Amino acid sequence: MRITGATRLAGIMGWPVTHSRSPVLHGFWLDETGIDGVYLPLPVQPRHIEQALRALPILGFRGCNLTIPHKRTALSVVDRVEPLARRIGAINTIVIGSDGSIEGRNTDAFGFCENLFDAVPDWQPSVGPAVILGAGGAARAIVAALVDAGVVEIRIVNRTPARAESLAHDLSTPEVRISIHSWEEVGAALRYAGLLVNATSLGMAGEPPLMLDLSGLPPSAPVVDIVYVPLETDLLAAARGRGHPVVDGLGMLLHQGRPGFEAWFGAPVQVTHKLRDAILATMAIAR
Ligand SMILES: NC(=O)c1ccc[n+]([C@@H]2O[C@H](COP(=O)([O-])OP(=O)(O)OC[C@H]3O[C@@H](n4cnc5c(N)ncnc54)[C@H](OP(=O)(O)O)[C@@H]3O)[C@@H](O)[C@H]2O)c1
Repeated sequence: MRITGATRLAGIMGWPVTHSRSPVLHGFWLDETGIDGVYLPLPVQPRHIEQALRALPILGFRGCNLTIPHKRTALSVVDRVEPLARRIGAINTIVIGSDGSIEGRNTDAFGFCENLFDAVPDWQPSVGPAVILGAGGAARAIVAALVDAGVVEIRIVNRTPARAESLAHDLSTPEVRISIHSWEEVGAALRYAGLLVNATSLGMAGEPPLMLDLSGLPPSAPVVDIVYVPLETDLLAAARGRGHPVVDGLGMLLHQGRPGFEAWFGAPVQVTHKLRDAILATMAIAR
């Protein structure tokens, strides 16, 4: 990589930020496209997030990604929040306008849908209720994505009812019924479902396992796990064994980066096997 006087700047703000795969992801696309650009890890402490965001247009940055713990706090700092990010309640992508204004967007919903339709192109949102395990930040983006895709019933299963209630309150529309279930009710929630998504951290390396009896889930229903370490979670292995179409979480991570890259560097990019392999190599996880 060579840096010139015209190199376009972007990066990711987080605290910590060293765990992020985004510099590798965007570095891959910069190499592939040959664009004169750079994508930097930007370690920004929570108390500095406002100053750091305000500095972006001053320093000539095109924008950046945001990760833990800045996704929610940035909502009150930026000049504009796109409606989808407002509904989700989190910003993961900042785009600096030509007038120096700071816009907050959320690309996790896009990443989820692109990954799902990539893996299961014939899945129909109208096929039946979607069951979402979890009500955290990722679940909010996924529910917004499914509402916009035309799913008419969403069943949220979460440990903390208040969090699920807040999600349902913020993301319900007149067209979509969102119901809330406890983990004791998960078997009933899976009945006649057309999609199952794990959006909790259960099953992730270092977290408690996700133990689920899938026998009530119709075999045609795709099973998505957005956890990507390990890539093949126990949930996906069990679903695969029962013949469900399965979708791992790495594709969502890769696809969510595309809109930011296109906004900052001005070129469309794709998620390919070569890209997946490059990211997997940095994670040292089984394919
Ligand atoms: N593939 C991708 O691109 C992508 C994108 C974003 C996130 N993720 C992954 O998705 C997962 C969730 O991320 P997030 O940002 O939504 O996190 P979050 O906001 O902290 O939410 C965590 C969710 O997991 C539930 N949970 C955690 N521990 C639990 C336990 N022991 N028993 C039952 N439920 C438990 C929480 O339930 P409570 O509400 O009861 O606490 C909550 O619903 C993480 O593993 C993250 O790495 C993947």
